[in-house]
Amino acid sequence: MTENHTTTQTGSPVGSDAHSLTSGPDGATALHDRYLVEKLAQFNRERIPERIVHAKGGGAFGEFVVTGDVTAYTKAAVFQPGASTRTVQRFSSVAGEQGSPDTWRDVRGFSVKFYTTEGNYDIVGNNTPVFFIRDGIKFPDFIHSQKRLPGSGLRDADMQWDFWTLSPESAHQVTYLMGDRGLPRSWRTMPGYGSHTYQWINAAGERFWVKYHFHALQGNEEMHGAEAERIAGEDADYYRRDLYEAIERGDFPAWKVSVQVMPYEDAKTYRFNPFDLTKVWPHSDYPLIEVGVHTLTENPENFFAQIEQAAFSPANTVPGIDISPDKMLMARVFSYPDAQRYRVGTNYNELPVNAPVAPVHNYSQDGAGRHGYKAASAPVYAPNSFGGPSASAAAAGEGSWESDGALTRAAATLHAEDDDFGQAGTLYREVYDDAAKERFLDTIAGAVGGVTRDDIRERAIQYWTNVDSELGVALRARLEAGFASADQAERWGSDLIRECHAGHPRDRATTRARTTEHTRNDSTEAPSNQAQA
Ligand code: HEM
Repeated sequence: MTENHTTTQTGSPVGSDAHSLTSGPDGATALHDRYLVEKLAQFNRERIPERIVHAKGGGAFGEFVVTGDVTAYTKAAVFQPGASTRTVQRFSSVAGEQGSPDTWRDVRGFSVKFYTTEGNYDIVGNNTPVFFIRDGIKFPDFIHSQKRLPGSGLRDADMQWDFWTLSPESAHQVTYLMGDRGLPRSWRTMPGYGSHTYQWINAAGERFWVKYHFHALQGNEEMHGAEAERIAGEDADYYRRDLYEAIERGDFPAWKVSVQVMPYEDAKTYRFNPFDLTKVWPHSDYPLIEVGVHTLTENPENFFAQIEQAAFSPANTVPGIDISPDKMLMARVFSYPDAQRYRVGTNYNELPVNAPVAPVHNYSQDGAGRHGYKAASAPVYAPNSFGGPSASAAAAGEGSWESDGALTRAAATLHAEDDDFGQAGTLYREVYDDAAKERFLDTIAGAVGGVTRDDIRERAIQYWTNVDSELGVALRARLEAGFASADQAERWGSDLIRECHAGHPRDRATTRARTTEHTRNDSTEAPSNQAQA
């Protein structure tokens, strides 16, 4: 019979849970108290680095069931009729750290890992269909501007608006962020998007461009800024708790999964560059096609092992699915596995939450934390004459696209209706109703009101004027009327507004270096286009 005695990590019983080994009851502690030393050393290593972005989150396991028929577009086993696949999903906010309140205004992460029979497939998206930038080379700058000042460690409206207004391609995403979608009621009541354009390949080798949409079967629900502020103070884990408790009581949240499918050839002539992550494809151009339903049914048994160590990546694709020539997506394919080798460890894919159900055959070996190994007789290189695995282009089912031209550093090609403000203006004018417009004005007035530098505030007013000229006029009037006083910022805004009114010392010198480089998409024109996602 195994007795329930405390042991060391190597399994030998220890003498006490409560008393260190000392020289007499009141004397010096012995260094050879091997259990004390092991316990303290192990404790010191309990944390791994938090994710550089999306640090605060939560998640659960679930199942994806195919309900539609998309065999004409992809041969991926996970999307074939009748397939059902185990999943793990993680939700998150972007800019806050591990302990930050869930209800700070922010974009929310929406990551799903499908443990498919052909390997893991990850969709690592957000609750908005677009993003702030369109080239991965700007991502570290963008994130630095949204996180904290190097000197004071405080968030700062000046650098947020400085970056956004000098990066006008951000306007569409900022319009989502400052609108009601910036404050979902819960993770269960928000949509998810793959955001990027991906490629699907069918059994005949034909290629298509697709965008993923997850619509909450619970419906979308948001909260008011004032309520979010109150909850941030009362329950920092509001979303995490909501998801956990819903699943515990058997109230399983579910999302209908659809895709927009663009024929391969359309990409060249479509009115918006389809690989520009700051744009949506209006549904009137490419309607939603049903794929399946994703349901979360199972809470993690251990948050650290199964959620904190979960490693989602746009690089995890399967036969019949590939990426597209979206510069952001190509950068992400490098960035995530690199982050995870550092954050979780070289062999992070061996951990149960990351390990595929499909068998792994390749020639990688060794490294810190490795526990899987092959038979001693298995060859360790390719090509070999000993029956080791060999790659198959047919099995990989990779996508492709045509490209030529000299190596260059340039903005992506503009299509007929591409500009930075058009779709943002459509979102504001045609999707937000009058009450939503009023809340939106309150929010941006509060946020821009936190800017301390006149030139940046003036640029922010111009930015919103470019989105909608009446909005710009209303914003200027609101700011001139002194709306964005500290009191009102407290009432309306996010954490960043409050911090900006606190009169904290700022290290201007280190944060004011900025680029004068504008993309050639810096248009103030706002052509009409159709409804949003
Ligand atoms: C080139 C631009 C981007 C870069 C370099 C980048 C980089 C990263 C990195 C390094 C992580 C942490 C990964 C980890 O430690 O496990 C991360 C997390 C995440 N990113 Fe990005 N990101 C980019 C753009 C985006 C975009 C456009 C989206 C959404 C459409 C997105 C959604 C997410 C999500 C949801 C997570 C959290 C994943 C999880 O739940 O573990 N990112 N990103």
